[in-house]
Amino acid sequence: MTGPGRLDGRLVALGITGSIAAFKAVDLLRLFRAEGADVVVLMTPSATRFVAPLTLAALSRRPVDADVLDLLPDGRIGHVITADAADVVVVAPATAHWLGAMAHGLAADVVTATCLATSAPVVVAPAMDGDMYAHPATQANVRILRDAFGYRIVEPETGGLASGQVGVGRLAALERIVDAAVEAVGARPIRKPDPADRPPRLPDAENFGRDADDLAGRHVVVTAGGTAEPIDPVRFIGNRSTGTMGVALCEAARDRGARVTLVAGMLAVAIPDGVAVVRAETASAMEAALAALVETPTGRAGFDALVMAAAVADFRPAAPADRKIARTDAGLTLELVPNPDVLAGLSRRVGGLDATGAPAGRPILPRPVLVGFAAETGGLDRVAAKLRAKRVDLLVANDVAEPGSGFGTSTNRVTLFAADGGVDALPLLPKRSVADRILDRVVTLLDARDAPVQTGATVTPGRTTP
Ligand code: CTP
Repeated sequence: MTGPGRLDGRLVALGITGSIAAFKAVDLLRLFRAEGADVVVLMTPSATRFVAPLTLAALSRRPVDADVLDLLPDGRIGHVITADAADVVVVAPATAHWLGAMAHGLAADVVTATCLATSAPVVVAPAMDGDMYAHPATQANVRILRDAFGYRIVEPETGGLASGQVGVGRLAALERIVDAAVEAVGARPIRKPDPADRPPRLPDAENFGRDADDLAGRHVVVTAGGTAEPIDPVRFIGNRSTGTMGVALCEAARDRGARVTLVAGMLAVAIPDGVAVVRAETASAMEAALAALVETPTGRAGFDALVMAAAVADFRPAAPADRKIARTDAGLTLELVPNPDVLAGLSRRVGGLDATGAPAGRPILPRPVLVGFAAETGGLDRVAAKLRAKRVDLLVANDVAEPGSGFGTSTNRVTLFAADGGVDALPLLPKRSVADRILDRVVTLLDARDAPVQTGATVTPGRTTP
């Protein structure tokens, strides 16, 4: 497994109290998940009036603990289990009332009770009206939390407040809160890596029998959208790709627990929350972005799987003009030169092969699973050869000329061609379902890759035949 997610394998207890900024906790939760953390949400009763526990339960995949008197289904006391298992408790947003209760040890809600019961570091991000924050009572409580308890306070920022006033009191930028949690955890060992010692997970209602976290601890890179090869500073050669399929893959991988990096070409759809984004709008920028991601400085694989859903231009203008090309009646002839085949090049690098496919260096290990797409028009007879030429584990082929498939649609009919020769023609499905079917295959390939070697012989499971 790879993935320097800064909170990989950690349990973050996210305490939400009753401020208008409580809605921002939804995005904060996603940022923690994107850093590889497992999150359990604790709420005060008033917080549940600002944001629905159901939303937070669905995103964290755990029941929300909002009642200090509630027991877990197995009779354990929720806030004590959380206090013992959490690697960090993050209270965001923290109201004036909560700061006061905490400063005086009044454990009437699960957030305070968990903080009292834990030996994990605690990060507190206050959010309230400016005058409330400036009040000596609030300031005294903040000092007690910081100086007497050693809590990290992520100071609120200046900006427009819910009251309509402008002042200090707005919840800190979410990235600052995540950074504070990462710093607070530092290099401490994970407190309770065994899921049985952590608060329970929700049964996976949405994915019938699929383990909702089957990509937890994995780093999945997805390329999406079309490339734009410049002709001059204002014009480019592009294609009809919108990025819908790639974005569906990012969302599905994220929801299954992966840390996701989206290498984004030209997108006509919104970038999903909770994924890291690298912009790469030309074939060569995409090649460079993937080259930087594929190997860590220590020489190990930088991701577990790459799904190359981008529509990469095969040709680019040989000499893009520095200035806008002026209109002439004589017309314009463009000379195009071939772009590198980004996926084929990357799979050679992973395998330690040269341009001819001969061994030329060290392979990148553990070998990432590589998935390509094949956009065809008028049949899929070229796909098996494409799969071999690109040396990938799986090619997702579709006939982009077919109604309901291809560019800008919400559905897709694809056929999965596997390196072992298997061919699986899927029915017309929503792109999100197609994404999950592709990721099912990725999970199987990764499990095979990481399975313990059974014999004395060296086995590299999941490896494609060249
Ligand atoms: N691809 C790539 N670099 C290119 C072209 C394509 O990495 N210069 C990737 C695509 O992202 C996709 C796969 O290769 O995952 C197949 O793309 P496709 O356009 O179907 O195949 P091509 O190799 O371009 O072959 P052809 O144009 O002959 O269909």
